[in-house]
Amino acid sequence: MPAMPLELVHDADLTLRNTLALPARTRLLATLHSTADALALAADPALSAERRFILGGGSNLVLCGDFDGLMLAPSIRGRRLAGEDAEAWFVHAGAGENWHDFVQWTLAQGWAGLENLSLIPGTVGAAPIQNIGAYGLEVAERLAEVEAIDLARGETRRFPVADCRFGYRDSVFKQEGWHLDGRFLITGVTFRLPRKWAPLTRYADVERELAACGTATPNARDVANAIVAIRQRKLPDPAQVPNAGSFFQNPVIDAVQAASLQALYPSIPLYPQADGRAKLAAGWLIEQAGWKGRNLGPVGMYEQQALVLVNRGHARGADVLALARAVQADVLTRFGVTLQPEPIYLGMA
Ligand code: EPU
Repeated sequence: MPAMPLELVHDADLTLRNTLALPARTRLLATLHSTADALALAADPALSAERRFILGGGSNLVLCGDFDGLMLAPSIRGRRLAGEDAEAWFVHAGAGENWHDFVQWTLAQGWAGLENLSLIPGTVGAAPIQNIGAYGLEVAERLAEVEAIDLARGETRRFPVADCRFGYRDSVFKQEGWHLDGRFLITGVTFRLPRKWAPLTRYADVERELAACGTATPNARDVANAIVAIRQRKLPDPAQVPNAGSFFQNPVIDAVQAASLQALYPSIPLYPQADGRAKLAAGWLIEQAGWKGRNLGPVGMYEQQALVLVNRGHARGADVLALARAVQADVLTRFGVTLQPEPIYLGMA
């Protein structure tokens, strides 16, 4: 039995729990401070019958309306060296740890490897769900194991990296309807940080930033600082201008369509993929479609990075959906490319 009763709030306001600052409420909100809390929840028949949703930092979420069910907010803390071998350090963190603070802490301990993912909003537990990635690195490349509680069975489950089926902004957790049925609750993540470290600076923006600082042989801290500087310049701080990061995924298209787009638009950014397809920059497509810095009602596409949808004040979920649809329609008409939203839409009628 848990030492403390579960922290349960009725009719909770979610405005401060989503980085787009959309107003919405949930009928029930449970904050889970430990794996014991999660097991207690799984064992409670009244709660286990509720429709559930797992809420991380709310940085990849569009609240389209109120949620008639139980939201779970994992707030499990703690970070420690869990083990080491000749090649790597294995570092464990609780799901509720803030991602950026965790990355900074690993660097302060002398464990490099996560620096390219500095300043990504959200929690450690949410990082594997969409396989967060930036500046040439995806979290899957540094992951050893995800630890979760199967709320249907009330037992702990471990997902070694090979079982997570990671892809671009994708994982098994998304595919199995993780958010929608709230079956597995991530309680902690173990990272594998290699002792043999080399900076990942192939990304053009990073190369430029380091060159501008005159850093020829950067260490992990230099790379982290460069990434923080780039992000601060291009991406709005959700605390100042509410947003959910990239609003669309970068679309992957087949080689034939890539060749015809390139013939029409010689300057189009195209990233060849290992399977012969090509990834496009959604931000470029949106800018070309005329949406960079343009508003529709109280929302708009950000002036420094057209891929980021921002709440200019008092927006509701419906405003976000209207803009997203307008941008998708224009990009489809102009380029024949369908943009997929990156955040999860919740509570859509
Ligand atoms: N571009 C434009 N106009 C814009 C924005 C971008 O022409 O308004 C062009 C850029 O000039 C560049 C290309 O598009 O040629 C790519 O832009 P950028 O380097 O800014 O990266 P991105 O593809 O737009 C992705 C991730 C970001 C991540 C950056 C850096 C996705 C959906 N987004 O953005 O992730 O930080 O690369 O690695 O993959 C997030 O997922 O929330 C996120 C911010």
